[in-house]
Amino acid sequence: MRHPAPRTLRGQLTAGLVTLLAVACLAVGITTALALRGFLMGRLDEQLAASGGRFAASLEHEAEPDADNRPDTRGQAESTFGARLLNGTVTRAAVVDDATDRPLALTPGDRRALTGIPVDGKGHSVRLSGLGTYRVTAVQGDDHDILITGLPLHPVEETVHRLEAVETVVFSAALVATGIAGALWVRISLRPLQKVTARAAEVAGLPLASGEVAMPGPLPDTDPRTEVGQVGTALNHMLGHIEDALTRRQASEERLRHFAADASHELRTPVANIRGHAELALRHQGPVPTEVRHALKRIDAESRRMTHLVDDLLLLARLDAGRPLEHEPVDLTLLILNATDDARAAGPGHHWFLDLPEEPVTVTGDAHRLQQAIGNLLANARTHTPPGTDVTITLTRAETEVHVEVSDNGPGISEELRPEVFGRFVRADRARSRSTGSTGLGLAIVHAVITAHGGTATVTSGPGRTTFRLTLPA
Ligand SMILES: Nc1ncnc2c1ncn2[C@@H]1O[C@H](COP(=O)(O)OP(=O)(O)O)[C@@H](O)[C@H]1O
Ligand SMILES: [Mg+2]
Repeated sequence: MRHPAPRTLRGQLTAGLVTLLAVACLAVGITTALALRGFLMGRLDEQLAASGGRFAASLEHEAEPDADNRPDTRGQAESTFGARLLNGTVTRAAVVDDATDRPLALTPGDRRALTGIPVDGKGHSVRLSGLGTYRVTAVQGDDHDILITGLPLHPVEETVHRLEAVETVVFSAALVATGIAGALWVRISLRPLQKVTARAAEVAGLPLASGEVAMPGPLPDTDPRTEVGQVGTALNHMLGHIEDALTRRQASEERLRHFAADASHELRTPVANIRGHAELALRHQGPVPTEVRHALKRIDAESRRMTHLVDDLLLLARLDAGRPLEHEPVDLTLLILNATDDARAAGPGHHWFLDLPEEPVTVTGDAHRLQQAIGNLLANARTHTPPGTDVTITLTRAETEVHVEVSDNGPGISEELRPEVFGRFVRADRARSRSTGSTGLGLAIVHAVITAHGGTATVTSGPGRTTFRLTLPA
C-alpha cells in the first residue's frame, strides 16, 4: 500500500503548514459565526423587550367597533408578529405586512407552541408554519391576558450564512496561497540543507580507497544557531577527521614506499659485494674441493637472482613514488627488434615471429623502462611455455595510440591467476619458483611502467592462446 503522506521534509512541512492554517481557519469561522449569531439574537431580544408587547396590545381592541378589525401597525417593523392569549387560548394573532395586514390563520400546532411560551419577557425561538422561525417574547397584559410579540429570525440566519460564505471563500484562497507560498518558503529555507547533502554526496563519490585524495573545502555557512548550520558544522568536523585520516594514511603509504626504496637500495651494495666475492673465489687457480666450487656457484647464481629481485623492487618503489621517467623519443620498432633478438638467443627452442609496420613507430617515454617491460613479456612467453611454442610480437599504430601485442600458443594462464596476474609476487607455481627464477614481479613492472607512460596493459588468455596487449599514447 502506498503511503499517502509526503515523504520529503519539504512536503511534510508544507502539508503541516496548510493543515494548521486549515484548523485555525475552521476555528475562527465557527467562533465568528457563533459570536455574530449570539450578538444579532441579543439585539433582536432587546428590540422585542423595547416593543414591550405594544403590537400585541393593539390586538386587544378587536371587539371595539371603531377598530375596523385592523390592528394598529403604526411604528411596527415589517413582519412583526403579535398574538394575544386569554385563558390559555390564542384569541388573536397578526403579522405586520404592508400589503395585507390580515389576521393570521394559525394551525393547532402553532397555537400549542404559542401557549407553551413562558411568560418571562425573555426571547424564545418558535417555528410557526407559514411564517418560519420567530423570536418571540411573552408579557402579562393588563386584563389577565398574555401578549406575545415576535420578530422573524431569518435576517439573522441570512447574515450568519453570508458571513460563513465570505469566510469560506477567503479562507480557501488563504489556504491555496499559503500552500504555494509555504512550499516556496520551505524550499528556500532548506536550500542550505541541499548544499550539505551535495557536499556529503561529493565526498561519498571520492576515491577514498587509496592514494592522495583532494577533499572539498568546508561548508561556508555553518551558523550553529540554526539546525542546518549544526548539520553543516558536524559535516565539516567529519570532513576534517576524514582528511586527517587520509593525510595520515597517505603519509604512512609514503613511509612504506620510502622504506621499500631505501631497503632495496641499501641491499644492492652488499648483494653486489657477495656476487663479486663469489666470482673472485670461483676464479681461484689452485685446487678447490668440488663441494666448495659447487657452493660458490650456488652463491653466485643466488646473488645474481637477488640482484634482479632487488633491482625490480627498487624500480617498483620508484615508480610508486611517481619518480619522473625519461621523456625522450623512443623507436619502438628498433626496441622490439633488439628485444626479440635477445629472446631468440635465450630461447632457441621457441619460434619467434615479428609483425612490424613498414614505417618505424616512435613513442615518447623512457627507452630503458619500455625495453624492460617488453623484455619481461618475452621472457614470460619463453619461460612459462614449453619449447616449440610460437610467440608472435605485433606492433601496430592507430590514430592516437600504439599497440604492442605479445601472444603465444602455450598453455595459458589459469583462471584464478588471470585477474591478479599484474599484481606483485603473483605467480602460478610458488614451489617451482626457486628453480625457474620466477619472482612474480615481471608483470607488476610491466603494469607500473606502462601506467607511468599513460598507457594500459591487458591480458587475454586461454589454453593455446595468451595475448598481452600494451597500449601507449602515440
Ligand atoms: N605467456 C604466459 N603464459 C603462461 N603463463 C604466463 C605467461 N605470462 C605470465 N604467466 C603467468 O603469470 C605469472 C606472473 O608472471 P610474472 O609477473 O612475469 O612473474 P614471473 O615470470 O616471475 O613468474 C607467472 O608466474 C605465470 O604463471
Ligand atoms: Mg616473468
